[in-house]
Amino acid sequence: MKSKKKSTKSKKNTAKLIINSNTYQLPIHKATEGSDVINITKLFSESGYFTYDPGFTSTAACESKVTYIDGEKGILRYRGIDVSELAEKSDFIEVSNLLIYGDLPNQKQLKKYRKLIVNHTMLNEQLIKFFNGFRRDAHPMAMMVGVMGALSAFYQDSLDINDPHQRMTAARRIIAKAATIGAMSYKYSVGQPFVYPDNELSYAENFLNMCFSVPSENYKIPKIISRAMDIILILHADHEQNASTSTVRLAGSSGANPFACVAAGVASLWGPAHGGANQAALEMLETIGNKNNIDKYIEKAKDKTDEFKLMGFGHRVYKNYDPRAKILKNICKKVLAHVGVKKDPILELAIELEKRALKDSYFIQKKLYPNVDFYSGIILRAIGFPPEMFTVIFSIARTAGWTAQWTEMIDDPIQKIGRPRQLYTGNKSQKYGKIRSKKNTR
Ligand code: ACO
Repeated sequence: MKSKKKSTKSKKNTAKLIINSNTYQLPIHKATEGSDVINITKLFSESGYFTYDPGFTSTAACESKVTYIDGEKGILRYRGIDVSELAEKSDFIEVSNLLIYGDLPNQKQLKKYRKLIVNHTMLNEQLIKFFNGFRRDAHPMAMMVGVMGALSAFYQDSLDINDPHQRMTAARRIIAKAATIGAMSYKYSVGQPFVYPDNELSYAENFLNMCFSVPSENYKIPKIISRAMDIILILHADHEQNASTSTVRLAGSSGANPFACVAAGVASLWGPAHGGANQAALEMLETIGNKNNIDKYIEKAKDKTDEFKLMGFGHRVYKNYDPRAKILKNICKKVLAHVGVKKDPILELAIELEKRALKDSYFIQKKLYPNVDFYSGIILRAIGFPPEMFTVIFSIARTAGWTAQWTEMIDDPIQKIGRPRQLYTGNKSQKYGKIRSKKNTR
């Protein structure tokens, strides 16, 4: 695969494109690792042609230094550090600092950063009243999208994207308040009183405390549970130019404020093909029910006339085991053992489904492996979260990546408004009268 790529490269670091009898020289930019890119920015002005790439399967939309993925090898690194190392040694706050600032902070910087984050954990009291406007049965992601966007109405001293200080303040506010908004969305949906942040706790502990403590009794957070929560947050913190991150960048490219951009990212993440897949994966396992039904559902997933897919399987970039899924599979066993589930039928079903799918020629040929969503739902359920909260937790974690990518984009000197073009295949010019007289076949 690699050598094939190399052989098509021009020696002068340019690619040649021949359209009819015209030759266009396209510069090739070198990546530190992974695929180099062919710069086509002048192609349209020089040739009159656009490129066509629905779903951006071959398009690098930006230059970035934040996250690197090698999908073939199953590698994920934040700022060059492997996620498995970060999951073992770091915590979410430090990882968010790494993502935003580009390298690990020293102890003094980290202490200062932690303080700056916890300064922002509370929500404006007026903003808390927003929750009462939602229906009781509202999906917590609906509240997450709405309240995240509404931050721009309350924190107007951090909306100027041209001021680096305001940009950083906005980023910290988003990361700090995301956990509070997520927890309040949960509390509202279960009809319990809101719990205010406790800044003595770590980010993961504070989130768990805001979700699960009640005024009537003490809530003690077991270390193993808060560590599992922290690792889930670390593993979901960034993932290069995925749909929601690209949404944040595209929204931000117009100069929109960061709270609005991150709300757009939350909306994009909600979809079942993206962040919503962890909820969908758990629901799928519950539908499959028991091991006797596995083969039937694998056949359904392979049947092109059937819309069913194995949720938590497959990935646009990973054509190998998702490194995050590997870590979570281990955490899953530890958390279940801690909560006293000696044998969780859903976990056993998941492991068996994974085993059978990975032996099936369809999944082998298409390189479909479990992704991060396959096991995260089982852990979150064991911690006590309902499926509707899974994507909310994903979005809380991803605020670190979204803000890092957004600040990188604003700082990029070649940044301009994102404006894709299209292959138009609609009607040619026609008269208004002719349209009206046409028989309506809709
Ligand atoms: N079950 C069955 N078949 C699948 C699956 C699956 N989970 N995933 C992909 N395929 C098949 C496709 O039908 C397609 O078949 P074809 O070549 O015969 O048309 C082939 O594998 C390639 O898949 P694409 O959909 O083209 O891959 P793409 O990169 O566009 O999609 C995606 C990736 C959206 C993640 C897809 O694998 C999927 O829908 N998976 C299930 C949902 C899921 O788990 N999403 C979470 C992704 S991770 C994240 O967002 C954190």
